[in-house]
Amino acid sequence: MKKISKYIFILLLTVFVIMQCIRPDKNSGGYESVVVFEADTKPSVEVVAILKENCYDCHSNQTRYPWYAEVAPFSYWLANHIEHGQGHFNVSVWESYSAKKKDHKLEELLEMVEEGEMPLDSYTWLHGDLKEQEVKLLLQWATLARLQYVKELKLSSK
Ligand code: HEC
Repeated sequence: MKKISKYIFILLLTVFVIMQCIRPDKNSGGYESVVVFEADTKPSVEVVAILKENCYDCHSNQTRYPWYAEVAPFSYWLANHIEHGQGHFNVSVWESYSAKKKDHKLEELLEMVEEGEMPLDSYTWLHGDLKEQEVKLLLQWATLARLQYVKELKLSSK
């Protein structure tokens, strides 16, 4: 019995070591990748800080990777969340969204933040959740930012 558990341990260790060689691609965008989004939606300095601290890691190309992003299988798990998050909403490709899509994404954002669904729970365990005041500021900003797209949509449908 002892011998078997030793083999299992060595097997697991080997798998773990091999896993380290498979490294998921990382985002390497800097501040420039969020410039268009911020110029367009005009967040205040406080809101920029909230987005940077709580959202951009998964919803922009500007991801701050923690040390465990170097360690498989956490690296896979992280890459998966980021890829999934960006697939739904990526501020670094904001200019490629239509006015309708921008408005819709901000509408989703309002819902997600209001219901406490964003940031993801797995993220808030380590990073902490939004404070009440931060939620309020995000909601105010997104509501205002939506107005310009609604206006654009009305003009284009005339
Ligand atoms: C750990 C990664 C992560 C963080 C941090 C995060 N999100 Fe998300 N977000 C996701 C994933 C994954 C999805 C898609 C899955 C889902 O709908 O639950 C998503 C979905 C969304 C959507 C829905 C888009 C759509 O079209 O359905 C919005 C809007 C959003 N997030 C906004 C935010 C905001 C605002 C923050 C910061 C307050 C934030 N997220 C923080 C990963 C993240």
